[in-house]
Amino acid sequence: RVLILDFGSQVTQLIARRVREAGVYCEILPYNCGPERVGAFEPNAIILSGSPHSVTVDDGPRAPQIVFDLGVPVLGICYGEQTICAQLGGKVEGSDHQEFGRALLSIEDDCALFDGVWRKGEQHQVWMSHGDRVVDLPDGFRVVGTSDGAPFAAIADDTRKIYAVQFHPEVVHTPDGAKLLANFVHRVAGLMGDWTMAAFRDQAIAQIRAQVGENGRVICGLSGGVDSSVAAVLIHEAIGERLTCIFVDHGLLRQGEADQVEEIFRNHYNIPLVARDASDLFLGKLAGVSDPEQKRKIIGATFIDVFEEEAEKVGGADFLAQGTLYPDVIESVSFTGGPSVTIKSHHNVGGLPERMKMKLVEPLRELFKDEVRVLGRELGLPASMVGRHPFPGPGLAIRIPGEVTRESCDILRKADAVYLDEIRKAGLYDEIWQAFAVLLPVRTVGVMGDARSYDRVCGLRAVTSTDGMTADSYPFEHAFLSRVATRIINEVRGINRVVYDVTSKPPGTIEWE
Ligand code: XMP
Repeated sequence: RVLILDFGSQVTQLIARRVREAGVYCEILPYNCGPERVGAFEPNAIILSGSPHSVTVDDGPRAPQIVFDLGVPVLGICYGEQTICAQLGGKVEGSDHQEFGRALLSIEDDCALFDGVWRKGEQHQVWMSHGDRVVDLPDGFRVVGTSDGAPFAAIADDTRKIYAVQFHPEVVHTPDGAKLLANFVHRVAGLMGDWTMAAFRDQAIAQIRAQVGENGRVICGLSGGVDSSVAAVLIHEAIGERLTCIFVDHGLLRQGEADQVEEIFRNHYNIPLVARDASDLFLGKLAGVSDPEQKRKIIGATFIDVFEEEAEKVGGADFLAQGTLYPDVIESVSFTGGPSVTIKSHHNVGGLPERMKMKLVEPLRELFKDEVRVLGRELGLPASMVGRHPFPGPGLAIRIPGEVTRESCDILRKADAVYLDEIRKAGLYDEIWQAFAVLLPVRTVGVMGDARSYDRVCGLRAVTSTDGMTADSYPFEHAFLSRVATRIINEVRGINRVVYDVTSKPPGTIEWE
C-alpha cells in the first residue's frame, strides 16, 4: 500500500485516484500526522503532494524524517520535490519566473519512472504550477527532465529509489501522468496492482462481519441514492436478515423514485425494508416557509424524528449504517483555515448517530464516488441506480424557490421527468454530472392556442463536474433545449415558459437554493 502525505494541494485526491486506478491501495494522511502514524501505516511507497506553501520560508511544512528512514521508494510532486531537495541537502530558491499551466518537458535521460512511456531526447506536455524552484540537487540525484522554467523538472536517485517531479502527473493536463504514477507504484515500488473491487468487496464483507459480530443488528437509512444503496446491499451480503433498511419518503423525491427503492430492495434483494410515506408531515411543516436554510433545517430535523420513530419500531439495533465516502473522511490540510462562511448546510442528518447512541458501520469510507459505482455494479445493482446523478437530501424542496406545496412538487416532478427522459434519449445522461429542473415562483404571460396563459417558469440546469465543488453549465445544442421546452409546456400543466441556466460554479452554485 501507498501512503500519500498531503501538504495541502488542491489536487491531492487525484493522486490517490490515479494510484488506485493502477490497482494499488493507498490512503492520504496530513504531512504533520506524526511519524508514528506514518510508521503504523506500513507503507510500501510514499508520495509527497504539492502545496500552496513555499519551501523557502524556514517554518514551511516538511516531510517527517521517517519518510526517508523507512527505505521505501518516495515520489515527490511539485512542493514534494522541493521539500525533498531542501531536506536532503539541495537548495530551493524563490524565483521571479513562475510557471503556471502547460509546459514542455525535455527528457534528458531514461529512468524507471519514464519506462515504456518517455525516452531520452523526447519532449512531452506536462502541467506546471510553481513559483519556487530547485537550484541545487542533493547528493545522489541526477536530472532526468528539464523545462524552460525548471532546470530540475524531473530528478532521480535510483539507489535510494527517490524520484521527484516539478510538474503534476496527477492532473489530466499531463496526458501521460497516470502512466508515470503507475510506473512508480508498479516498477519502482514493485507493487502488483491487484487491488480490485472484487477484492475490496470480500475484504469489506469480512470487516462488516467482524465489526457487527454474530448477533449484532444494523439499521440503514436508504435515500434512493447510490451511496446508501451500495452500503445496504454490501451489508446485506455480510449479515443477511440482521440488516433492516428504513426508507423515509419525504414527498420531495423525483418521479418514480420511491417505487424503485421498494422494487429493488424488497422485491429484488429481499432485504427487510420499512418504507414510510411521511410526505404529509414534511409538507405540513414546510407550509409557509420560503428561506432555503430554514427548509433544510426543517427537513433534516423531521427526517431524524421519523427515522428514529421507525427505528424504534424495528427494535433493538446496535449499529447504524452510513454511506460515508472517502472524501468526507480525509483529514485535509488547510493553511487558510478553510471556508469560514456556510454557503449551504449540506449535512442533512448530522447528529443522527449521536442522538440514537448507535455505533456506526461505514463500509464505503475508503472509497471515492466512482469506486462506489464500480462496487455497485459488482454487487449487481441496476445500471440506472448505480449511474444515477447525485440528488440532495432536501430533494425538490430546494428546487422550488419560495414556498413548497404538494402541487408545486407534482408539477416539478413531471417537468423534471420529461427533461431527464430527453437527456437519456439523447445519450447524454452519463456525460452530465447533474441535471434537473427547478420551478420558479414567478408567473409569466403566454399564449396557448387562442388563449392567454399565466403560469409558472421552469428552469433547466445541467452541469459537468468531477466533484461538485466546481461545475460548468452543459453546452446543449439549441435544438435539444427547444425540444425539451416544447415537451414540458405541452405535457406539464402549470408551466408556460422554460429557461436554461448557463451559470458556472463558482460564482453560481449547482442547486438554485
Ligand atoms: P451546490 O448547490 O452547493 O451543490 O453547488 C453541490 C452538490 O451538493 C448537493 N447539495 C446538497 N446535498 N444536501 C445534500 O445532501 C443539501 O442540502 C445539498 N445542497 C446541495 C448538490 O445537489 C450538488 O450535488
